[in-house]
Amino acid sequence: MKDFKNIGIVGAGSMGIGIAQIASTSGCKVFLYDQNVEIAQSSLNKLKKILERLIEKKRINSNKRDEILSNIKIVSSLNDLSVSNLIIEAIIENLNIKKDLFSKLETIVHKECIIASNTSSLSITNLASSLKNPSNFIGIHFFNPAPLMPLVEIIPALQTNINLLDSIRNLLLSWNKFPVIAKDTPGFIVNRIARPFYSEALRIYDEQIADFATIDFAMKEVGGFKMGPFELMDFIGNDVNYAVTESVFKSFYYDPKYKPSLTQKQYASAGWLGRKTNKGYYDYNSSSKNVPSKDVTLLNLIFERILVMLINDAVDAFYLGIASKEDIDLAITKGVNYPKGLIAWGEEKTFSWVEKKMDELYENYKEDRYRCSPLVRKWGNLIK
Ligand SMILES: NC(=O)c1ccc[n+]([C@@H]2O[C@H](COP(=O)([O-])OP(=O)(O)OC[C@H]3O[C@@H](n4cnc5c(N)ncnc54)[C@H](O)[C@@H]3O)[C@@H](O)[C@H]2O)c1
Repeated sequence: MKDFKNIGIVGAGSMGIGIAQIASTSGCKVFLYDQNVEIAQSSLNKLKKILERLIEKKRINSNKRDEILSNIKIVSSLNDLSVSNLIIEAIIENLNIKKDLFSKLETIVHKECIIASNTSSLSITNLASSLKNPSNFIGIHFFNPAPLMPLVEIIPALQTNINLLDSIRNLLLSWNKFPVIAKDTPGFIVNRIARPFYSEALRIYDEQIADFATIDFAMKEVGGFKMGPFELMDFIGNDVNYAVTESVFKSFYYDPKYKPSLTQKQYASAGWLGRKTNKGYYDYNSSSKNVPSKDVTLLNLIFERILVMLINDAVDAFYLGIASKEDIDLAITKGVNYPKGLIAWGEEKTFSWVEKKMDELYENYKEDRYRCSPLVRKWGNLIK
């Protein structure tokens, strides 16, 4: 296995410090750089508090805490990253600022050093084009909070030396993560395939079929999801969730499948962002309970409509070579905690059932949004 003793991290915000914690816990030396050294110091102080809590919960002992902290060194210049075997960038989500950083880093590091981006939404291939030697560049996408979320998407750029995949995969396994490999397309795996969970729920609400509480109840009670779509959007933040949907929609040349919801835009514009503002789809200051409908037919209709849209998109992603079936299902169970992998769920429900439900939606709306994936049709026909 390639030697990854020294890890450079650029950007010490929520993702950067989280990745630093993972790497240092696994025994790597971490060199942490932020353009604002005070942010790096304050992030490290927050990490110290997290480690104290882990000691209280008996998850680590004080020796482990000391080892983790001694493995992290805040550095004040990019030049101090020259000893890195791998650099993970976690700075502001801005294409030109990131590209500028990568071309600078390339002049500092040795030629074997792998440079990676933790971007959620930018093209890895486009970022790689900022380097003279882009073959050592790759996307390594952690989820927030990085130390707790098991999934990591590895995204090779068009220019990436494909031999890197195994070494990065093995490194992430040694960091106790579940790595999956995704094609460099908008949203990679999770941020693409999970979109209907939010957008179809919003559409059902917009059509006045059910209220937030009923839609959430259907997904939890009938579907076994841990959180309903509106609870989850309130948790993520309507601003953040809307921005991701909008970015995926634009990047897919306005494919109606990914069309954002005006309702969500309104909530974001009103500052009703969710838990962080104490108001979103739910009012977190109010003690009054939202009572969902218990109409079984309605609850089934909601659950099945959202589920078929999710399965259809997961199968379509496999059809388009975004990831293997196994990685798609791993991404969805480990990245967004769904009760089952979507392809496995489709097999259980049968793809002819998914095809029938998609065709019913299409017949009703005559919108491209509800087109059935050719592979769902093919798999559906195999077992008819
Ligand atoms: N927050 C999430 O949920 C999440 C999840 C996965 C991936 N990401 C991605 O990770 C990256 C970082 O996100 P975050 O939430 O940690 O952001 P953040 O705002 O918490 O931290 C970004 C840090 O980068 C620093 N910075 C900005 N420009 C810099 C530069 N040119 N050089 C050095 N440091 C610079 C800032 O000072 C800041 O401390 C983004 O690309 C984001 O898309 C975020």
